[in-house]
Amino acid sequence: MSTTASAPTLKSKHFLTLGDVSQEELMGLLSFAAHLKDLRKRGEVYAPLQGKSVAMYFEKPSNRTRVSFEVGLNDLGAHPIFLRKEEINLGVRETIADTARTLSRYVDSIIIRTFDQGEVEELAHYATVPVINALTDQYHPCQIVADLLTFKEKFGDFKGKKLCYLGDGNNMAHSLLLGCATVGMSISIGCPPDYIPLPKIVEKAKAIAKETGAEIEVTDRITHAVEGAHAVYTDVWVSMGQESTSSKYDVFQDYQVNKEIMGKADPNAIVLHCLPAHRGEEICGNVFEEHAETIFDQAENRLHGQKAVLAALFKS
Ligand code: CP
Ligand code: NVA
Repeated sequence: MSTTASAPTLKSKHFLTLGDVSQEELMGLLSFAAHLKDLRKRGEVYAPLQGKSVAMYFEKPSNRTRVSFEVGLNDLGAHPIFLRKEEINLGVRETIADTARTLSRYVDSIIIRTFDQGEVEELAHYATVPVINALTDQYHPCQIVADLLTFKEKFGDFKGKKLCYLGDGNNMAHSLLLGCATVGMSISIGCPPDYIPLPKIVEKAKAIAKETGAEIEVTDRITHAVEGAHAVYTDVWVSMGQESTSSKYDVFQDYQVNKEIMGKADPNAIVLHCLPAHRGEEICGNVFEEHAETIFDQAENRLHGQKAVLAALFKS
């Protein structure tokens, strides 16, 4: 007999930024993801997407996002169609509008990983099926569902908790700002002055945080950023597509997550990393290994989080 709970619904047709997901919706996704994780561990089938096909267009490499989406779609009963740049060449071979309108006649959803957030939004504008952002230079919303699920598994709740992110103020920082603000967890971004998050996203997070009681901070005072944090989060210093910017290594040296930095955090603090990790750069090897169990729980939770997002989008 099935014990499956009902998927939450989302007001937004697409999953593009997290900025348009309410606290209730995000908490619903986290609870449903935890439920799907439990079902999967018990070997129970939950396949509400049978007969559906989903396009996955990736212009950047991926391990976690691609594999967890393909496995998740398979679990849900849907058929994934993986498309590389060579096939679609978004915005070059034909207009983004024409790609969106064509794919919408074949598939039931489009998952996209590319550089420019504007392209994803344009695709979503013209698509008649839900579009899911699988990472742009600006946002990584699917990652944040997994991150928050991992935090909730360890601490139970977000209220009165603080997450510190050390690194570049780009896609991960932006999505963490929105996600933490939405669930009511304080967030301190520690980053070099030339690598701060986009001010409009910090302002958006602050506006959300006013309602949820979270504190939002961006600072180059590293010790202050980490002080008392319940989670210390980091990401590669050089993101995909920025490989030529090797000068960043000098600027980011002091932002490495190491034993000394962890000494400033809460004694029970967890370490989170979206992966891939570059040991000796943004994180030292011994801190990574000490927290590897949590970091790979976080990677696993991509699967459960994205299944919850897919089920919700298909239901809404
Ligand atoms: N964290 C993440 O998105 O990993 P991949 O780039 O391997 O998908
Ligand atoms: N900031 C990284 C995140 C990878 C998941 C990148 O964009 O490459």
